[in-house]
Amino acid sequence: MKKIKVCVIFGGISTEHDVSIVSGTSVIEKLDKEKYEIYPTYIDTDGQWYQYTKPVNQIKVTPIGTKLDETTSIKNITEYLKQMDIAFPVLHGLGGEDGSIQGLFKMLNLPYVGCGILSSSMGMDKVYAKVIFEKAGIPQTKYEYIKVKHQTYTYIFPDFSEKSMELPEIIKKVQTNLNYPMFIKPSNSGSSVGVKKANNQEELKQAVEYAAQFDTKILIEQGICGREVECAVLGKDEVISSPVGEVLSAEEFYSFDAKYINEASKTIIPAEIEKEISNQIRDFSIKAFQAIDGKGLSRVDFFIENKTNKVYINEINTLPGFTTISMYPKLFEQIGINYSELLDRLIQLEI
Ligand SMILES: Nc1ncnc2c1ncn2[C@@H]1O[C@H](COP(=O)(O)OP(=O)(O)O)[C@@H](O)[C@H]1O
Ligand SMILES: [Mg+2]
Repeated sequence: MKKIKVCVIFGGISTEHDVSIVSGTSVIEKLDKEKYEIYPTYIDTDGQWYQYTKPVNQIKVTPIGTKLDETTSIKNITEYLKQMDIAFPVLHGLGGEDGSIQGLFKMLNLPYVGCGILSSSMGMDKVYAKVIFEKAGIPQTKYEYIKVKHQTYTYIFPDFSEKSMELPEIIKKVQTNLNYPMFIKPSNSGSSVGVKKANNQEELKQAVEYAAQFDTKILIEQGICGREVECAVLGKDEVISSPVGEVLSAEEFYSFDAKYINEASKTIIPAEIEKEISNQIRDFSIKAFQAIDGKGLSRVDFFIENKTNKVYINEINTLPGFTTISMYPKLFEQIGINYSELLDRLIQLEI
């Protein structure tokens, strides 16, 4: 049987570059070498493409922070991609999870693993994901939306009409609609970069100014005091959900450090929650995935409020962490779909 040529792409221009190398090398290690001819492809932080020339059967998952040295530059990206049967982007964040690279594949008529252009960009943009979740009737936290350009602030009303305001005026308005604590986030970001919790007016102001360093669109959310849980989905026309897992952050919230540096953060799989709540989360996960018109894979994240046990969606990640110890593959392992089978299924969905 002829082997399927798979272009596994990792690295990338986003803040999640290093995590993507771990995810990408995990995928290469676990892909069945009898079935697939693998083309390991690395994008550096400047967006340059390289072939990772280490023999594929010697590629093992690399620890975070590893620098790749066996690389040769790819001169003509489109010609390179045209020889492939399928692309498997294992890129997280901007450039890889936001529809950009999916657009390149589409232009080349190259099948690819995972969400399409629209679903990727909607999943990445927290404000627009919220608009769609609202339409789908999935409970979420209350929020406010502002834009900022060259330190000029604009308040965006629920009907998308805009009003230019000074920051103190915006803060006042936000305070009348939301209570502390609040979470302030760049609309397009990941790995908690740019996200801050505010407990008072001064912190809110500082957090908005901080988030403005990362994006021109800023989301301010009502903080939820509760547990953080995640659910994985897989499929295209038929979509399945995994059991639910819980994240126990070692820090006040699941910040960049808590995710990747502080080893005291833990995951519990499956989460110890009532069956009824877990079923609700699984249903909402599929609903969210379908609402953004997803295909392939996504991990959908929620809060369960301590006081009320009420479930709120937080976000959908269309290219979640994919190391062998990441939540996404671990959740499917629970129902007997191991890592290599997961890769086979994701590829099979597209060819
Ligand atoms: N509304 C909220 N209430 C409570 N905690 C929140 C809220 N929004 C975000 N957080 C905390 O901040 C973390 C990062 O926010 P998130 O929206 O998931 O951004 P990212 O896309 O960078 O992961 C979450 O995992 C959670 O710990
Ligand atoms: Mg998150």
